[in-house]
Amino acid sequence: MKIEGKEYSTIWFENNIVKIIDQTKLPHQFVIKDLKTVKDVINAIKAMEVRGAPLIGATAAYGLVLSIIENNDQSFLNKSANNLINSRPTAINLKWAVDRMIKKLSGVNSEKILHIALNEANSICEEDVNFCKNIGLNGLKIIEEIYNKKKDTVNILTHCNAGWLATINWGTATSPIYHAHKKGIPVHIWADETRPRNQGANLTSYELNEEGIKNTIIADNTGGILMQRGEVDMCIVGTDRTLASGDVCNKVGTYLKALAAHDNNIPFYVALPSSTIDWNIKKAKDIPIEERNSEELSQIEGMDENGNFKKVKIYPKKSKSLNLAFDVTPAKYITALITEKGICNASEEELSKLFK
Ligand code: MRU
Repeated sequence: MKIEGKEYSTIWFENNIVKIIDQTKLPHQFVIKDLKTVKDVINAIKAMEVRGAPLIGATAAYGLVLSIIENNDQSFLNKSANNLINSRPTAINLKWAVDRMIKKLSGVNSEKILHIALNEANSICEEDVNFCKNIGLNGLKIIEEIYNKKKDTVNILTHCNAGWLATINWGTATSPIYHAHKKGIPVHIWADETRPRNQGANLTSYELNEEGIKNTIIADNTGGILMQRGEVDMCIVGTDRTLASGDVCNKVGTYLKALAAHDNNIPFYVALPSSTIDWNIKKAKDIPIEERNSEELSQIEGMDENGNFKKVKIYPKKSKSLNLAFDVTPAKYITALITEKGICNASEEELSKLFK
């Protein structure tokens, strides 16, 4: 998708260096950062310079390529794989991508391993672009249907950033929106600010602006009243881990939006590539929920009038804060899942029909 009119991917490999867009600087500065070692990759994932489930999976895959360049030795590769998996716990794509790479590389001799690793990391990226494009084409039908009934702008609420910046291109939740916009369907997006890191405000609104799509940032608690006022036609969110049962783990606050949507008879969709499905964990309570540094809550960062990034404290010094990064929305509150293979009910039976 575009930034200042120029097409970008969120990640690419050039001259043995992984190139990323540093998302901690957006929307104030557009900075391309070089990652040269597997340690750089781990730090970038931990610091959320790259974030979003599909993108951290792809970045980890390139991390293994850098690990081989650095030290072409099996035990170093295994250690890198473990460290990458542990860099963020909730999004299943990270483990999915690392496991896929390690499986592909097992038994490969040391002369060929770099070439095969790079091909596989590139394939993970190419597949993700195709998956996200197809999610968009499938989700477009839902937006079209609402537009054909309403004959007016379709208002869509989204949470966090499940946009192209969270993937390689297109995004998951945003892909149907981009496809609708390209088809000339008028859409307007309510972008939840998404405290504490404000991915909705800093990233979703930013990328929609760059594509010329109307959007309004709202505080996280505003969705409910907008739904009661009839100003939300549908919700679409992404997911970091979808259980076979159809329960969806996504950015904290997603669950409350789903409850409000349910109470107001507003359809609530989750868009996901199959790489986000966890077929192993059976119960939502067993999903590892990332707890991040409480300073993400108690301090806020922005750019001052001189163009310098500044952090300021916003809480009483003595107050404690708790920063859980994800929550789980039970399948019963999800109208349907929008996947690369089609739209299905959030249930094991339907997901299995599509993917197993
Ligand atoms: O903590 P983040 O910014 O990585 O969380 C991202 C989200 O919750 C996204 O909505 C999710 O990864 C889906 S991405 C297409």
